[in-house]
Amino acid sequence: MREHYDRLLDGCKILMLDIPYTADDLCNITVELVERNGHNTDIYIRPLAYKSEELVANLKLQDLASDFTLITVPFGNYLGSDRLRCCTSSWRRVDDPMIPARIKACGIYVNSILAKTEATLSGFDEAILLNHDGHVSEGSGENIFMVKNGRLYTPALEDNVLGGITRDTVMQLAKNELGIDVDMRTIDRSELYLADEVFLTGTAAHLTPVVELDCRPIGDGQPGPISKEIQRMYFDIVVGNNAKYRHWCTRVTPRLVPA
Ligand SMILES: Cc1ncc(COP(=O)(O)O)c(C=O)c1O
Repeated sequence: MREHYDRLLDGCKILMLDIPYTADDLCNITVELVERNGHNTDIYIRPLAYKSEELVANLKLQDLASDFTLITVPFGNYLGSDRLRCCTSSWRRVDDPMIPARIKACGIYVNSILAKTEATLSGFDEAILLNHDGHVSEGSGENIFMVKNGRLYTPALEDNVLGGITRDTVMQLAKNELGIDVDMRTIDRSELYLADEVFLTGTAAHLTPVVELDCRPIGDGQPGPISKEIQRMYFDIVVGNNAKYRHWCTRVTPRLVPA
């Protein structure tokens, strides 16, 4: 949770959103809301920092007051499949001098939504966006990893990707548990076609293998061993079943909700 709020505050800095909370405050507010809402199922936590002024046609961030809101909602399987068929989007990822993709800014999701809509209307599960230079950036709401000859690769932040918390999690697990260093470097579209394994990561997407891209099977067209092993560890850790990584989890004790 802490890393999510550190990233939110980075976004606030870039967007001049001056909210009166530290990352610790935001963590405490979140625990309290989750406890009060008394969920008994998986949920999605949606924090939002925004400009709160009741004004039209003022595009000057420095003039506008900011506020923060938080929503928790029951949440199921986001991607709808545990082995994804993806396509390369005809939409390009926003470039840093347009809107910085490394932060989670709402406006960026217009770009994601165009890509996701195109992909799903064409019968695919998810879109892979290339950046302005034609290199691989990420999925519409996920980071991307590639396995080739036992090594792991993911695009660097400079390739216009969100600094995903799950991306960091996977990099740490690969290094600590499998002894595999992840190479953050530019990836060509054609490298994905020739990869042994490809998978997507995200808070909503967890770790989900891609088995086909642009109608070409990835590897043998089945989730690969490295994807499956990291996915197994990830699912164990996020529900608090792995003592070594329990500090990545936050305990909440739902309060009884009146009927
Ligand atoms: C565009 C984009 N990339 C990557 C991610 C994955 O980030 P995280 O692992 O922090 O959820 C998300 C998550 O919402 C996203 O929207």
